[in-house]
Amino acid sequence: MEWNELEAICGQCTRCPLCQTRHNVVFGVGPRDADVMFIGEGPGEQEDLQGEPFVGPAGKLLDDMLSIIDLSRENVYIANIVKCRPPRNRDPEPAEQEACIPFLRHQVRLIRPKIIVCLGRIAATRLIHPEFLITQEHGKWIYRNGVWMSAMFHPSALLRDVNKRPETFDDLMSIREKIRETGAKV
Ligand code: URA
Repeated sequence: MEWNELEAICGQCTRCPLCQTRHNVVFGVGPRDADVMFIGEGPGEQEDLQGEPFVGPAGKLLDDMLSIIDLSRENVYIANIVKCRPPRNRDPEPAEQEACIPFLRHQVRLIRPKIIVCLGRIAATRLIHPEFLITQEHGKWIYRNGVWMSAMFHPSALLRDVNKRPETFDDLMSIREKIRETGAKV
């Protein structure tokens, strides 16, 4: 399946109940040949209204975090585990994640990134391993199926708890190093 078909199918998806309350499917944004992907958990209110990931308060912080290591929305691909907003921003339920994840996996197959960074626990448990402990395992790297994968705190968590920011700075430095090491284009 190519991009046009994938996006069209996604846009009409009714595989889980989130389709009943969404305003927009938040497909993903960025170059479709990006070497670096960032994956969040699911759209919030602004993302649902605008149809783009990370455009609310957490997105502003994500932009600032990216700029620390000379990245921007123009050179990375940003998406979420689920593409429709969970009501009241609750965690997406396992069945909702299960229903939606094939779309993201398809995007990864088309993009073929060198590096995937999970933002927060939900993305890390879904993409890295099911028992992932974000407080203990953030910043660690694993290499799987030709892709370097890591996780960092979700920007919303960093808005709530500034004490996590120094560790996140270290994680950003480690991402910059991995970009250098792999020759990822950014
Ligand atoms: N939080 C997420 O996980 N994803 C978004 O797109 C916005 C907020």
